[in-house]
Amino acid sequence: MKRTIKTTLIILLVVFVVMQFIRPEKNISDVVPATDLIVVTKPPKEVQDILKTSCYDCHSNNTNYPWYSNVAPISYWISDHIKHGKGNLNFSEWDTYSVKKKAHKLEELTEEVEKHEMPLESYLRIHKDAKLSNEQIETLTNWANNLRFIHQLGVK
Ligand code: HEC
Repeated sequence: MKRTIKTTLIILLVVFVVMQFIRPEKNISDVVPATDLIVVTKPPKEVQDILKTSCYDCHSNNTNYPWYSNVAPISYWISDHIKHGKGNLNFSEWDTYSVKKKAHKLEELTEEVEKHEMPLESYLRIHKDAKLSNEQIETLTNWANNLRFIHQLGVK
């Protein structure tokens, strides 16, 4: 019995070590593209801060990685969130979206944030500063609704 426990532990350790060599590609970019949401829409500073602190890690081409993000399997999990987050909505590529798509994404943004579904719960457990107060939710959604209205009017 004792032997099997020991063998199992050794196998697990070997698996863990081997996993460390499989590193997902990082989402890092030094350039802020001309198509970036903040560059294009120039929101007020409070809105910029909210977006950068609470959303950009998963919804842009540049993530601020914490140290433990290098440890597998956490690294796989983070990489997966970024891939899915960016795949659905990438603020770095905002201006490549059609006016209709922009309006639709802004509507979803308001919905997700009001329902407390974004930022993801698992992310908030570690990034306390990313948690949005009711006031921040209002600031963000008011801004998004105004912008959506402008798009829907077809002005821009
Ligand atoms: C930890 C990563 C992470 C953070 C931080 C995050 N998101 Fe997301 N977001 C995702 C993932 C993953 C999806 C896609 C799967 C899902 O809907 O759960 C998503 C989906 C969305 C969608 C739906 C897009 C669509 O087309 O369906 C919106 C809108 C959104 N996020 C807005 C935000 C906003 C606004 C913030 C900041 C307040 C934010 N997210 C923060 C990971 C994140």
